[in-house]
Amino acid sequence: TIEKGSFPKDFLWGSASAAYQIEGAWDEDGKSPSVWDKFVRIPGKTFKGTTGDVAVDHYHRYKEDIALMAEMGMKTYRFSIAWTRIYPNSMDEVNQKGLDFYQDIIDVCLENGIQPMITLYHWDLPQYLQDAYRGWESRQIIEDFEKYAVTLFKEYGNKVKYWITMNEQNIFTRLGWQSAQHPPGLSDEDKLHYQVNHHAFLAHAKAVEKFHEIVADGMVGASFAFHPSYALDTKPKNVLAKHDFDDLKNYWWMDVYAYGRYPRAAMKYLESKNIAPKIQEGDFELLKSASEKVDFMGVNYYRSDVVEHNPEDGVDNSGIVNVSGKKGTSTETGMAGIYKSPLNPHLPTTDWDWTIDPMGLRIGCREITSRYDLPIIISENGLGAFDKLEEDKSVHDPYRIKYIQEHLKQIKMAIDEGSDIIAYCTWSFTDLLSWLNGYQKRYGFVYVDQSEYESNPSLNRYKKDSYYWYKNIIETDGEAI
Ligand code: BG6
Repeated sequence: TIEKGSFPKDFLWGSASAAYQIEGAWDEDGKSPSVWDKFVRIPGKTFKGTTGDVAVDHYHRYKEDIALMAEMGMKTYRFSIAWTRIYPNSMDEVNQKGLDFYQDIIDVCLENGIQPMITLYHWDLPQYLQDAYRGWESRQIIEDFEKYAVTLFKEYGNKVKYWITMNEQNIFTRLGWQSAQHPPGLSDEDKLHYQVNHHAFLAHAKAVEKFHEIVADGMVGASFAFHPSYALDTKPKNVLAKHDFDDLKNYWWMDVYAYGRYPRAAMKYLESKNIAPKIQEGDFELLKSASEKVDFMGVNYYRSDVVEHNPEDGVDNSGIVNVSGKKGTSTETGMAGIYKSPLNPHLPTTDWDWTIDPMGLRIGCREITSRYDLPIIISENGLGAFDKLEEDKSVHDPYRIKYIQEHLKQIKMAIDEGSDIIAYCTWSFTDLLSWLNGYQKRYGFVYVDQSEYESNPSLNRYKKDSYYWYKNIIETDGEAI
């Protein structure tokens, strides 16, 4: 039983990262290039052409990073595994050095009382799979992903309890096939986008099917970039637009993970536009069966959306991401004839024009609880900002403390209101590479001296004010928020 107003004693206080964004060592110890290693080399794709070749050098400094986590008292560390370290050249030959690297991370975490939480796929597909059959565009990926997943479950399943199959399938597919901001860099490929998603669902489902056979005492689910939404006003057409937005932008993913089916109205809409995915016999049986074995809903939460009706000749860019970092430059997004998303005039925004809405997270958790009744892992939440390293190597980030504090207050209320939230992972622990925004957009509790403006930064780590603040929150089981 939980005392009202308290976090559960076994609450998993954590932070999250992704391999490409922290590891570096992009061609070391047998690792082969991923689609990201190639994509960042296309001129104009990332801020100042920044790559993750070195990233924050976690590959060589993971012991130092995990020691900082331990000193903070962190209970869980979510990280992703680079497929390109495990099966670098073909799906027939596993790379022992890759396996050993993550084995050691897991061991060092456990020695320090930190539960590892593994993401199987955080967007860094092996380039050779892209070259061989265009990666997610082919059904071949389903079998290969399953094999990769099973290898990891067998290797680490006796030590690791928490597993996330996919990170933000909704984002990597939209940015990869609709707005050309991620590999493979295609735009307006709406039909292919839904087909790719269907394959990713099936790959996730295959992995989930195998999971409980191999990992006796574990939990598995997918993490999704959830955008809780508000109708602009009470005009029925705006309320309908909100329903369409939810079906097409949220439930399209969460319903498949939790129920094994697509939302009906959204499917009808895609069929009417001739962009619905091709579904084979047996697909729905697999999705349904896997949905019954999913243990939690993983939620990455950064912002909510306002939804307004959008005329047929209205804005049509399906949600590109603002990468400039200059306030007031973000483009309105939407789908012609369906919805558009104006900024919320009642809420502040980050330097990247992302709405800051702590209560939106509580609303989202409540929605998941009433719609799916699954435990929730908040697998990402955090503030990307310009931080300043002072002469004395301190970093004063009261804005980040406030952001996390306000979100935690709402999480606590959602728990009181019945949501079964078992973990909270901030994005991120150390600063890291923000895919499209270089190193200038910082998220960490730990400042890393890495920058696109200098040629040889030291990569030294410095604790920010938020580091000490979160340490105290964990020590007091959340009482100090
Ligand atoms: C999520 C991703 O979309 O948001 C992370 O899972 C990412 O990998 C994070 O870094 C923040 O996005 P951005 O664009 O600010 O780095």
